[in-house]
Amino acid sequence: MKLLRLSLRSFRNYDECRIEPGEGVNLFLGENGSGKTNLAEAVYCLSLGRGWRSPDIAPLIKDGAKEALVEARVESRGLTHDIELRFMKKGRQAKIDGHPVRKLSELSSLVSVVSYAPEDALFYKGPPGVRRAFLDLAISKADEGYFRLAKTHHKLLEERNALLKGETVDRLALEVLTERLVMCEAPIDEARKKFLSLLEHRVSGLLSELKGEEMEARIDYRPFLKSDDPIPEARALYARALATDLERRTTTVGTHREDFALLEDGKSVGAYGSQGENRLASIATKLAPAMMAGKEGSIVILDDAWSELDEKRGENLKALLPRLGQCFVTATSFDYEGARRFDIGRGTAATEE
Ligand SMILES: Nc1ncnc2c1ncn2[C@@H]1O[C@H](COP(=O)(O)OP(=O)(O)O)[C@@H](O)[C@H]1O
Ligand SMILES: [Mg+2]
Repeated sequence: MKLLRLSLRSFRNYDECRIEPGEGVNLFLGENGSGKTNLAEAVYCLSLGRGWRSPDIAPLIKDGAKEALVEARVESRGLTHDIELRFMKKGRQAKIDGHPVRKLSELSSLVSVVSYAPEDALFYKGPPGVRRAFLDLAISKADEGYFRLAKTHHKLLEERNALLKGETVDRLALEVLTERLVMCEAPIDEARKKFLSLLEHRVSGLLSELKGEEMEARIDYRPFLKSDDPIPEARALYARALATDLERRTTTVGTHREDFALLEDGKSVGAYGSQGENRLASIATKLAPAMMAGKEGSIVILDDAWSELDEKRGENLKALLPRLGQCFVTATSFDYEGARRFDIGRGTAATEE
């Protein structure tokens, strides 16, 4: 998978900008506040239809402009496609090869982007919602069935919570929704378990390379369901939680409450690790899906990833770049032989080979 060209109009701090990235490492270099992250974020938008810094669309539109436009030509599975994203105050429109996209998932099945940005350093230290969102996104990319399942689960959960918040609770409707949720839980757990065991292997390998010493990291997954007979187990757990759910007016059990931790030498990085250890564990985890993306690969974004790494770990991360396929690296300064370099200055991007 490759991004062949990208142009922006009224996107973040850019009026107009057009770049033709190279196949390997691309550097966005410039002073603080020049627009390096903004340009990387435009690349990210091609996969998810939004940036990573805010779920809202409005910040993507240049101050004073009506709408923002991101156009790109990508190569995916041996074919080239044109993507057009239009961000308006009241929503967004996406087109692939001139045809309007009905579901944003059509974009992510065409373009896969993996990213690490400084705010991800708290991946294991921060709240569990971030880890669950990562899981759901990573699994959905490779598994359309999981994507639909997670969406159904989300919708049923919203309906069940709305019911629990009502003046009087319709017990029959609650029973029906609960049973439908129960049927989603087991396959969600199964897919997460499978993915996390692959992820554990990749994260161990990446962490060993980044640290420059052989090490084994373990992922401690705390699934909702633990038995070999997960459907009756889920049913029993929901039944046991019913009184609490009614009292708290929300669904207190289920896969939406799950979490996982990373253990190094048996200790949780989130709970015990230093900032540096957390940063490295987060980089390894966020990059791992790029190594799991098969032949087609992913586009990789490394936003300011080197700024807080020591020299040795920084060099080790650089040594990984040739295996990551097409990468976009933002930094104030960065040396890398053979990289295509874009000098970013206040809303412009000039190329230098
Ligand atoms: N919607 C917007 N309209 C105009 N300017 C914006 C918008 N969103 C962000 N900016 C500005 O873009 C500038 C560059 O941001 P960024 O890409 O994060 O810089 P950096 O090069 O340090 O990564 C910031 O000064 C920010 O205020
Ligand atoms: Mg930045």
